[in-house]
Amino acid sequence: MSAISRKVLTLDEFTILQLRNFPNATGELSGLLRDIGLAAKRVNVEVNKAGLVDILGDAGATNIQGEDVKKLDVFANNQFMGVLRHGISCAGIGSEELDDFVVFDDPVSVNSKYVCLFDPLDGSGNIDVNVSIGTIFSVFRRVTPVGTPVTAADFLQPGVKQVAAGYVIYGSSTMLVYATRRGCNGFTLDPSIGEFCLSHPDIKCPELGKIYSVNHGNFFQYDEGVRKYIDGCQRKNKSNGGPYTQRYIGSMVADVHRNLIKGGIFMYPATQDKPNGKLRLLYECNPFAFIVEVAGGKATNGQQRILEIVPTELHQRSPLFIGSKLMMEELESHL
Ligand code: AHG
Ligand code: MN
Ligand code: MN
Repeated sequence: MSAISRKVLTLDEFTILQLRNFPNATGELSGLLRDIGLAAKRVNVEVNKAGLVDILGDAGATNIQGEDVKKLDVFANNQFMGVLRHGISCAGIGSEELDDFVVFDDPVSVNSKYVCLFDPLDGSGNIDVNVSIGTIFSVFRRVTPVGTPVTAADFLQPGVKQVAAGYVIYGSSTMLVYATRRGCNGFTLDPSIGEFCLSHPDIKCPELGKIYSVNHGNFFQYDEGVRKYIDGCQRKNKSNGGPYTQRYIGSMVADVHRNLIKGGIFMYPATQDKPNGKLRLLYECNPFAFIVEVAGGKATNGQQRILEIVPTELHQRSPLFIGSKLMMEELESHL
């Protein structure tokens, strides 16, 4: 057996190294990211055997938004909530799967400075067919005083206030990608040692890509500007190298991850049936908007930068346009 390569930096080593840049840092964010990494590893184990055990299929309930809840959704939600509750860095959570936010009011958690919002399992419609799914998370510094129970005000902050955001993709390999204002980095799980190892340092989203991702089935429900842009994506006479390739997996994590690495644009516009689109501002749009902006891209709801929207409800939805800078600028010229 060969010795462990010391070129490899694990997630924990990386976050601790980052601390050196901040002499006054408490390490609480590193702790929070370690907790998220731990929950991700546990969820990964279950996702990997989803085809084998009786964890497939519906849990027989619908969530607050009336959607089917899959057993793995519940499992993932409980893992992330449980790990964060028992950790020492999180004072409360909000989850796509829970009606209301959860206050961690034990003496340790109440003294934590962060709250976390997450979509425990994104793309859960893809579980039964062995297609990539993910977890999305967003971290805010609380606005209420440390030592008191968190309130709605801690969760209803605009996305610009995020301290960190990230996602886990349970794909052909499992990756954890997270961004802080300092940069965006990706870690691939090495299953042989059970560690996330730095594999994609300092991710930058190419300014221009060749991929557009949208649910074409809804085409005739989109606004005219969106339809015109999509139409243009399919034409050759483009200065930017069109026609583009259309790719849409139906797991936002997988679609946006691919576009982040290769360059591209992802859209979930408003439709006649869903005037606010489908995606949730706090659990899906905000974290990805933060990550993609840190990586050099852009994210809007068609009118406004996603990160500047002041949320009024935990589960509110928003149209989303996100991706490579120049592609976003071209889209904006149509809207
Ligand atoms: P979730 O599984 O958390 O409900 O999210 C699914 C989302 C998103 O991941 C994906 O991009 C989108 O739903 C797909 O929706 P359509 O099937 O309407 O295109
Ligand atoms: Mn989702
Ligand atoms: Mn989900």
